[in-house]
Amino acid sequence: MAIHRVKGTYDVLPGESYLWQALENKIRTILGLYNMREIRTPIIEYSEVFHRQTELSDMVTKETYDFDDRGERRLTLRPEGTAGVIRSYVEHKMYASQELEKVYYIGPHFRYERPQKGRYREFYQFGVEAIGALDPALDAEMIILSYDFIKRLGLKGVRVRLNTLGDESSRTAYQEALKTHFTPHQDTMCEDCRQRLVKNPLRILDCKVDAKHPAMTSAPKTIDVLNDDSKAYFKQVLDHLNAAKISYEIAHKMVRGLDYYSHTVFEIEADIEGFGAQNVLGGGGRYQQMVAELGGPDLGGIGFAFGMERLLMALEAEHVTIADIQTVDVFVIVFKEADRTLATKLLYELRGADLVCDMNYTKKAFKGQLKQALKLGAKYLVILGEDEMSRGVVSIKNTKTEVQEEVLLKQVKRYLVDHLGAEQ
Ligand code: HAM
Repeated sequence: MAIHRVKGTYDVLPGESYLWQALENKIRTILGLYNMREIRTPIIEYSEVFHRQTELSDMVTKETYDFDDRGERRLTLRPEGTAGVIRSYVEHKMYASQELEKVYYIGPHFRYERPQKGRYREFYQFGVEAIGALDPALDAEMIILSYDFIKRLGLKGVRVRLNTLGDESSRTAYQEALKTHFTPHQDTMCEDCRQRLVKNPLRILDCKVDAKHPAMTSAPKTIDVLNDDSKAYFKQVLDHLNAAKISYEIAHKMVRGLDYYSHTVFEIEADIEGFGAQNVLGGGGRYQQMVAELGGPDLGGIGFAFGMERLLMALEAEHVTIADIQTVDVFVIVFKEADRTLATKLLYELRGADLVCDMNYTKKAFKGQLKQALKLGAKYLVILGEDEMSRGVVSIKNTKTEVQEEVLLKQVKRYLVDHLGAEQ
C-alpha cells in the first residue's frame, strides 16, 4: 500500500512555501510595531497544561492528541497556544521582571477534528498573548491589532465581532440564565447539549448540532446579566475602539469555543463570497484564571490566534498578492561536458554577488536546458557555447528583451550585477 500523509494534514510544497514565508514575515513585522516579542514553546506539554478542571470545551475533552511516552508520562500535542505560553510564563516567573509581557508565537497545533476545507488536524496558528494586566485599553489594543493586521495584509471582506462575558460572577450568572432558559427544551436538544446543561451551559451556544434549535434564538444575551463593573469595563473597551475608529459588531451571544474566557471575547470573520464554512480567521479574548490555575499569581491576560491556512485562503479568495514567486536571476547553459567545471565555478562566483543562480544537473541537451531555464523564470541565460568558449567569451541573453550579447568571461559577474541592478 502506498504511504500517504496522515488524515487532516497537508504538505506545503516547494511551489507554495514562499507564500507561507511571506505571511510569516508580515506577521513578524506587524507584531514588532506593537512591541511584541516571539516566544517558542514546545509542541508537546504535560497533559495537565491543557486538561484543566475548568476546561470542558470540546477542543480539550474530545479533540486532543494525548499519549504516553516511553517513560509513561502523559503528554498532549498542543491544541492551542495560550496554555503552553502561560505554563512558560509561570515557570520562568516572567511576571517578576515584566509588568506586562507581550509575546507572539507561530507554529503547528493539533486537534482531532473532522477535516474539511480550512479545518485540519495539524494546522498553523500565529497567536499573541499580553499577560499581566487587566485594563480595557489592553483589550482594545488586541482587537485593534487584529484589525490592523488584517488591513495591512490587504484583506477587505472581513469583520470584527466582539462580546463580553463579564467577570467571574457575571459569567456564573450567565450560566444560570442559560440553564433556566434551556431546561424546558432539553427533550428536543442533542445528547451533548443535555450534558452541557448540567456541566457547562455556556457551551450549548456553540453547539453545531443544535445551532438551529428555536431556543437558541431566544436565549438570553450576556449583556442581560452583566454586573455594573463588567458593564463599565466593556463600555471602556468600546470607548477605546471608537476613539481609534475601528469598525466592529457586537455579537451578544458569542462565547467562543474555549472555557477560559471572561470579559472581552472577539472573532475576525471572513465575509468573502464562496469562502466556505470555516470562515472564522481568528479569535481570542481575556482570561483571568489560567495563570493562577497553572501555579502562578493572580494575574490575567488577553490574546488571540489566527489560523494561517485560513488567512492564505482568504488572500487567495480576494486575489491579494503578498509575495512574488521565487525566480532565478541567472541560468547557466553548458554545451560541452568539459565546460561543466567552469559552470560550477561561475555559479559560485555569481552567488557570491548575491545572484540567484542555477544550472542543469541531469545532462540535458541545449533545448532541455533552455526549457528548464524558462520554467524557472530565469532573467538571464549565460550560454557557454562551444564557439564562444574558444574565444574566451560567453553569450548572455536577457530572456525578456531577447537581447543577446557576448561578454568576456572575466566580466560576466560585473555585467550581470549591473544589468540586474538596473532592472530593479
Ligand atoms: P481558537 O478560536 O480555538 O482560539 O483558534 C484560533 C484560530 O485557529 C481559529 O479562528 C481558526 O482560524 C484556527 N483554527 C482552529 N482550529 C483549526 C483547525 N482545526 N484547522 C485550521 N484552523 C484552525 C485559540 O486557539 C485561542 N488559543 C486563541 C487565544 C489566544 N485566546 C486567547 N489567547
